[in-house]
Amino acid sequence: MDKIIIEGGVPLNGTVQISGAKNAALPLLAATLLTGGVHRLRNIPRLRDIRTAKTLLYHLGATFEEGDPLCIHTDTVDSYEAPYDLVKTMRASVLVLGPLVARFKKARVSLPGGCAIGARPINLHLSGLERLGVKIELLHGYVEASAKRLVGNHIYFDIPTVTGTANLMMAAVLAEGQTVLENAAREPEVVELAQCLTNMGGSIQGVGTSVITIEGVSELRPMDHTIMPDRIEAATYLTAAGITRGNITVRPCISEHLEAVIHKLEQAGMLFEITDDYIQGVGGKTIHNTDIKTDPHPGFPTDMQAQIMAMMCLANGQSIITERIFENRFMHVSELKRMGADISIEGNTAIVRGRSTLQGAPVMATDLRASASLVLAGLAAEGVTEIARVYHLDRGYQGIEEKLRGVGAKIERVKE
Ligand code: EPZ
Repeated sequence: MDKIIIEGGVPLNGTVQISGAKNAALPLLAATLLTGGVHRLRNIPRLRDIRTAKTLLYHLGATFEEGDPLCIHTDTVDSYEAPYDLVKTMRASVLVLGPLVARFKKARVSLPGGCAIGARPINLHLSGLERLGVKIELLHGYVEASAKRLVGNHIYFDIPTVTGTANLMMAAVLAEGQTVLENAAREPEVVELAQCLTNMGGSIQGVGTSVITIEGVSELRPMDHTIMPDRIEAATYLTAAGITRGNITVRPCISEHLEAVIHKLEQAGMLFEITDDYIQGVGGKTIHNTDIKTDPHPGFPTDMQAQIMAMMCLANGQSIITERIFENRFMHVSELKRMGADISIEGNTAIVRGRSTLQGAPVMATDLRASASLVLAGLAAEGVTEIARVYHLDRGYQGIEEKLRGVGAKIERVKE
């Protein structure tokens, strides 16, 4: 198993190339199951989760022509089962449920099970499909879904679930009649999926708002799509400029996707130059303490909570960080405390009392974004930090060491 070694204390300077968005690519890959033909997808990030998604499509019968665009042949899809062995490694595999039941009127998908950051049930995915006339049974750890036909309906989400909205949008796009998704997710990745489905011949209105209306169509054409830049990857590198008092430009990126994060980083003392194509972030001499509450988009993204917490560990005061999306997303706290951070937790709130320095230490990654926060802390810490279990990082950050070395970081990956 690999580990990452960082010698901290270097202000980072330069430009980081942002890859395609993981959380846009995963639903788009699943959407290729909606119709046969050759689908073309560009700017796919090279990540472990993407490899898992391709393995799942391959398992279902799809074939690939590697390259950019990646060509995905789905005429040959002849299975509708997503096995436990694949789903357990990546819960986003559940995104094949909607497309499979829409196209084949049946699907057998392993229940994802628990996750480091929370229970993460899929009850809203399943109750939504039932509203479209799908019979759902939970048997031997699998969701058995079947339907004679899918008929549009009104679906209200108790919580604006991101992949739940994506799954129901993909199911409803081939259903008979109109579907209304209320309290739907507004994340840019959901908007991207809807744009792609519309280009495939779907009829979707209101995406980006909390009420999405879908008029079912009888058929779709293959996709030909370029994936947007990853807003969480971009935000992570901008935070690296803040925590190291450096100057980093991220490109390409879509600034509207980062408004909540930039707002908080400005409060923390950073300066920004924002253009249509890139964002330059300059760290201030002093990091100002800043309170954070995570929320669904356009609120502050939970996927940036850990990274900005690492920065607040070096702020000139106390910050209150409240995690409101996942019930167990403070796994990075104990590791940051190993580096000398002063943090206490009360329920879903972390009280971070800023210090002037962090010390390098051996630490352990526990999930994707927690590992990113440990990398940021290591970049700012005095001395050497060793991060174990970096396979978590590879799920969502393409070539993180190379990109950080490109802006001056002393970082390397070694075999443990
Ligand atoms: C997506 O997960 C992202 N994953 C997550 O990113 C991200 O943290 C999350 O949205 C929130 O922004 C992908 O897009 C692949 P949710 P998702 O359904 O869709 C509860 C990363 O780091 N809920 O919006 O699984 C749920 O437990 C990952 O890249 C139900 O109760 O998140 C959570 O508390 C981590 N029942 C809340 O809703 C359901 O049926 C929001 O979850 C569905 C969700």
